[in-house]
Amino acid sequence: MKPREIVPGVHYVGAPDFDRRLFDALIPLPDGTSYNSYLVRGRDKVALIDAVEPAKLPVLEAYLEEVPRIDYLVSNHTEQDHSGGIPWLVRRYPGIQVLSSEPARLMLADHLGLDPARIRAVADGERLDLGGKTLRFVYTPWVHWPETMSTYLEEDGILFSCDFFGSHIAQTDLFVDGADRILAEAKRYYAEIMMPFRKIVQKDLDKIKDLDIRLIAPSHGPIHRDPASIIGAYRDWSDDKPHNTVVLPWATMHGSTALMVERLITALVERGLTVHPFNMAAADIGQLAMALVDAATIVVGAPTVHVGPHPVVFNAVVLANALRPKARFASIVGSYGWAGRMPEMIKAAMPNLKVEILPPVVAKGLPKPADLEALDALAAAIAAKHKEAGLF
Ligand code: FEO
Repeated sequence: MKPREIVPGVHYVGAPDFDRRLFDALIPLPDGTSYNSYLVRGRDKVALIDAVEPAKLPVLEAYLEEVPRIDYLVSNHTEQDHSGGIPWLVRRYPGIQVLSSEPARLMLADHLGLDPARIRAVADGERLDLGGKTLRFVYTPWVHWPETMSTYLEEDGILFSCDFFGSHIAQTDLFVDGADRILAEAKRYYAEIMMPFRKIVQKDLDKIKDLDIRLIAPSHGPIHRDPASIIGAYRDWSDDKPHNTVVLPWATMHGSTALMVERLITALVERGLTVHPFNMAAADIGQLAMALVDAATIVVGAPTVHVGPHPVVFNAVVLANALRPKARFASIVGSYGWAGRMPEMIKAAMPNLKVEILPPVVAKGLPKPADLEALDALAAAIAAKHKEAGLF
């Protein structure tokens, strides 16, 4: 297998993974993923950027079969899906020097069992001249680990961004084909791993804004030929202003909560709001995470199991709390059979959400006319909050 040219002197040597369906034993991957690796050849020196997931190491090995010398391995991120091939690389190329950010140096030693003496920390902004190809290291922390950096190839305007701007897509083409698809998949990825750090993502975006970026080559998914599009999307996702939308994870056992959810959706839509309901009995949590990126309000629709919230809905609350979306308002609707502390338990499970809680609506069994009126009032209260916040 021959390295695939991106521009003269820069080649793709990564691996698509069409069959992977779950990441981190958590995240659904409907379109597989890829672990990208890039070879940059200057007149004097050769560098490899990132080193694929261990399961796909044979692909990298095949690409490098006719590459007799690599001088530098640039590790933009320590997580094993990008660093897993490094132990093999230091055996295959005894003279190779591993380059990482300062915080990554000991992390690489810990995670991969590497001798720290093989790793040199580069400074933020440091340049490395390979001979007509100059790498500039730009610390971009918390996308999504503390040690992450990007590598900018000055002469060709390529930003090697690792997870930052990545997407879980497996394909044989190297470049993005279809802006809508890439933005949807990139949003899924952003939602699942970067949203909790969106304030720092804003700073990372500021840090790269003056670079002349012609291509963004992430380490998951295809290469962006339209950097402005994905950078603009990241700006929107990470900024502080939510959209005029409501996310509604819910479940039902005997139909009572379903009736309430249906009434609330109708009342919200009549007032001009967009609602994204997710029946958690079968929902794709990636879709739920994507909807949380923009939502101004989260309403949890839960029946009561014994005395607490239904576990599948509670999982959604735990996820939302972990992802720390920018939502400003929240509420709870649902039902119980004989007693319960469902609303209190849900509220206690979302300490990370900086939301104003609007009064919950809870029915004993089937919702009565007064419960339905209370749902209409909740919809009116949410709409009023969105208007006050200037969201429509
Ligand atoms: Fe794709 Fe954070 O690893």
